[in-house]
Formats: sequence, structure tokens, C-alpha cells
Amino acid sequence: MKKRVLSGIRATGRLHLGNYLGAIKGMIELQNNPDYETFYMVADAHTITTPFSVDELRQNRQEIIIDYLAAGLNPQKSIIFIQSQVPEHFELAFYFSSVETIARMMHLPTYKEKVRQYPNNNTMALLNYPILMAADILLYKANLVPAGIDQEPHLEVAREIAKKMNQIYGTTFPEPKRFATFGEYIPSLIGEGKMSKSVEGSYINLTDSIDEIRKKIRSVPTASVSGGPITGGIKTLFMLAEIFFPKNIYEQFKEQYHSKSLKFVELKDALAEAIYQDLKPFQEKRKKIAANPSYVERTIKEGAEKARKVSQATLKEVKEKMGLI
Ligand code: TRP
Repeated sequence: MKKRVLSGIRATGRLHLGNYLGAIKGMIELQNNPDYETFYMVADAHTITTPFSVDELRQNRQEIIIDYLAAGLNPQKSIIFIQSQVPEHFELAFYFSSVETIARMMHLPTYKEKVRQYPNNNTMALLNYPILMAADILLYKANLVPAGIDQEPHLEVAREIAKKMNQIYGTTFPEPKRFATFGEYIPSLIGEGKMSKSVEGSYINLTDSIDEIRKKIRSVPTASVSGGPITGGIKTLFMLAEIFFPKNIYEQFKEQYHSKSLKFVELKDALAEAIYQDLKPFQEKRKKIAANPSYVERTIKEGAEKARKVSQATLKEVKEKMGLI
């Protein structure tokens, strides 16, 4: 039997370079490997666990599907869907919540961080975030989850729930593992932490023009001269340089840095150009797909239908084993 893969991205905004390198490249790699059956969703219900705008959510769900398709997710090869259109996720999450404790959920670093960020939004939905994510994954009995390193605590919860459910009720859930990609930690442009939609000035959007990219890269904080201590901003530049430049060019810039002859603006402008060249085919494909809304609509509808076939079978098994059928 083929191994299953599931991943999702919250619909909090348009996708940025960090999502692309950290998650989507891994999603595509697994999609194109015939040993795997791949499920990729937009986690729109996870979006409501932090403050959100109704209009933006409605729009973003759609836009992320378009981003997925433009980046190379293929509906012939992957099941691409919107989480809330498969209501089995919420039903399974409720059953799962009976084997997890409140204390365990309150201790998760991801939960604490969000409460710190939004002290007036300490909701049940936020506390339940990892349970819903476990349901996302286990509903499809996925073995592998392409996601960034920050998602590891959530995967730990999913494994825990799988084990408990199997022990208590005799279900057959696998213990899912994270699939790490090379670019899983893309540093922020402000030189601190990772590239994130919730930190202004930290990210490059996949649809940014060359001018926007250049402006953002130019504002990465560096030093007045090269060769000194490697600050956060300089580290960010070199990490991106390693990803986007051919090896010899990357080495050349590094050598210039160490010999104090590097002009940061030259490195920055070359980097902006390299990033833009990498994104250009995506941007062109995206324009074509966005101009065909009926294709997008159909893809979304068929994706939900296919996902529901699998999810209903799992849910039936769980309900039987729990005495609910
Ligand atoms: N928590 C993930 C994030 O913030 C999004 C997500 C929701 C997810 N459900 C998932 C990722 C299932 C992988 C699998 O990025």
C-alpha cells in the first residue's frame, strides 16, 4: 500500500517565500514520488483560532489554492482541498479531544506563544488547535507530514493521540512523522526569528515584483563594512544566498565578506534578482490560473469530494470502535 502524506497551510494571508521553501517544495517532491499518495489542504478552520477578518479569510482560502496550483501541486496527482469543506475533520477532532488533557494542551509552546501574542483571544479553539491538526493528519492515516520544525510539538501530539486511540479503542492509526525540507527554516528579513506572515517586514511574498523584492532585501540590516561579526541580518542574507545562488557565486560572496571587500548592496541586489528569477515562472503560471476561476472552482469541489471518500471511511471505523455506531 502507498504511504500517505498530508499537509496544510493556514489561510492567514498570501503565501510567502518561507512557506514555499519550507513546506511547498517538500509537498511537490512527495507528490511526484509514486510511492506516496498526497493530500494537501488549506487549513481555513485553523485560521479562526487567532483574530481574523471574515472577508480576508474568504479570499485567502481561494488564493492559497491558486498559489498551490501555480507552485506545482497537481490535482491529477494530489488531493487538494479546503479543510472546512470536509466536516469529518471537526467530528474526529471532537472524538480525539476525549483522550487529551487540558493540562497537556496548555503546556504546548505553540499555545503559550499565541496567548502571549493575542492575550485577549485565549479561546477554546486555540487550545484545541493541536487536536484539530491531529485529526487533519490521522483522518487520512498519513505517515508523513511536510512541515517546518516549529510544527514538531503538534506532530508529537498527533503521535500521542494515535497511540492512545489505538491502545484504548483498537483503531489503526499510524504515528505520523515530519518530513523536513532543506529550506525549512527561512530566516526573517529583519534578522531575528523566522520569516513569518505575522511579522511585518520579515517576508517576501511569492507575488512580489522585482522592485518590491529589491526594496525588502535592501532593508535587511547589515553592517557598514564587511568582515566583522556576523549579525542576524548578515546571516539571513547568506542563508538566502546559499539557497538561491549557484555554489561558486555563493562562495565568491562569502570570500569577499571575509576579505572585507564585499559591498552589501551588491550582494543584496544580486540576491533580489536571483529570488525574482526563481519566482517568475510561478508568477506567470499564477496569472493564468487566476484568470480561469471555473477551473479553480472545479478543482476545489472535486478535491473535497475525493477527500471525503477517505475521511468518511476513517470516521466510520472510529465510531464503530468507540461504540458510536
Ligand atoms: N499548523 C500548521 C501551521 O501553522 C498548519 C496545519 C494545520 C497543518 N493542519 C495541518 C500542517 C496538518 C500540517 C498538517 O503551519
